[in-house]
Amino acid sequence: MEIILIEGGKGLKGEIRVSGAKNAVLPLMAACILNSGVNSFTNVPDLADVRTMVELLEIIGAKIEFENGDMTIDSTNINKWEAPYDLVKTMRASVLVLGPLIARLGKARVSLPGGCAIGERPIDQHMKGLSILGSKIDLEEGYVEATAKELRGGIIPFDVSTVTGTENIMLSAVIAKGETLILNAACEPEIVELANFLNNMGAKVEGAGTDIITINGVDELKPVVNHEVMPDRIEAGTFMVAAALNQGDLTITNCKFEHLGALSGKLIQTGAEVIKTESGIRVVGVDRPKSIDFTTLPYPGFPTDMQAQMMTLMCLSNGLSIITETIFPQRFMHTGELRRMGAQIKLVGNSAVVRGVSEISAAPIMASDLRASASLILAGIAAKGKTEVSRVYHLDRGYDGMDKKLEQVGARIWREKI
Ligand code: EPZ
Repeated sequence: MEIILIEGGKGLKGEIRVSGAKNAVLPLMAACILNSGVNSFTNVPDLADVRTMVELLEIIGAKIEFENGDMTIDSTNINKWEAPYDLVKTMRASVLVLGPLIARLGKARVSLPGGCAIGERPIDQHMKGLSILGSKIDLEEGYVEATAKELRGGIIPFDVSTVTGTENIMLSAVIAKGETLILNAACEPEIVELANFLNNMGAKVEGAGTDIITINGVDELKPVVNHEVMPDRIEAGTFMVAAALNQGDLTITNCKFEHLGALSGKLIQTGAEVIKTESGIRVVGVDRPKSIDFTTLPYPGFPTDMQAQMMTLMCLSNGLSIITETIFPQRFMHTGELRRMGAQIKLVGNSAVVRGVSEISAAPIMASDLRASASLILAGIAAKGKTEVSRVYHLDRGYDGMDKKLEQVGARIWREKI
């Protein structure tokens, strides 16, 4: 087991590069199930979740090479249809093989993802959509068992905006007979990336990025070579918040300002400078951030995946901040650990009321989920003294060498085995 230690209290300065997006590459990898041949990707982040998806695709018959950000996926011999519980329980995104397996093999057996630290993670909308396309869905011993003689297009009205739900339907409707309309589709940039990849495979997907996606099924899809994975907007946002601590000054490269409007606006309201640059975004922090309120919303609203990180900044603000979580109402596991460092946070329903303090102090703290671990690393950077963060495997699920990148811009941060 590893812990991460941070001697905090000073601002970060310099240039930091963002890796490929976890929440883009996972559906792109699942999309390779739909073709039969060799697909290749560049700018693939080296993450635990990516390696879990590699393992899952190899179990069903894919042959995968992955080194230094380059990945090939040979989908020729995919012929198994089960995603085992021990893999799915570690990564909810495994559910993304459900749609393409039904589309390619006519059947799929995928463990229900179960809940996690950020809350209950239902897939009722995924199953509703797949049923409308013609799948017969049963729940057996914690598994979704789906079969379909033939997928036919249909109208799918989502009750909630669901990212992987939208992706799962896209990953089956592209080879269904006829037209599919997804209503109340998620609009995240990762959806647009998946649509572009599918269209490069020969699919006919229109409207990605809006709440209505139209898909006309085709008979066959071809492999895609040399797809460059889009930058990770949540990693970029995490570094933007890091810059806002202790009057830091970071230029975050290989990221897209247009993916980070809501976060940029909130950071500017705290008094930080956010400047669009040639290569990405520069953020300059102030001595004491102003307190602001924010509410998490589906894209393009304030991302739930940035809530914990922004809370860390608000712990050091000059007043009262009300943070409301509408996507995962229980996504507050980080508050207990921040309180151990002297933060003043009170949970009221699906909101956290944060009273800013002038400084927080180092302490041994424990990560509980991916973005909570990022918020605790940021807290360690802000706090005077030596903070120890345990269970950092949560961080390694979704950040590619975050501690190394932070060290290069002046953080005194290192790992120790315990
Ligand atoms: C995706 O999760 C992301 N993961 C999450 O990122 C992100 O937090 C989330 O979207 C919201 O932006 C990946 O893309 C791999 P949802 P997903 O389905 O698709 C409810 C991270 O830290 N819902 O958009 O699982 C659900 O309970 C991770 O990188 C249903 O009710 O989230 C939630 O309240 C965490 N029924 C809301 O919709 C369903 O069938 C949004 O969930 C599906 C979802």
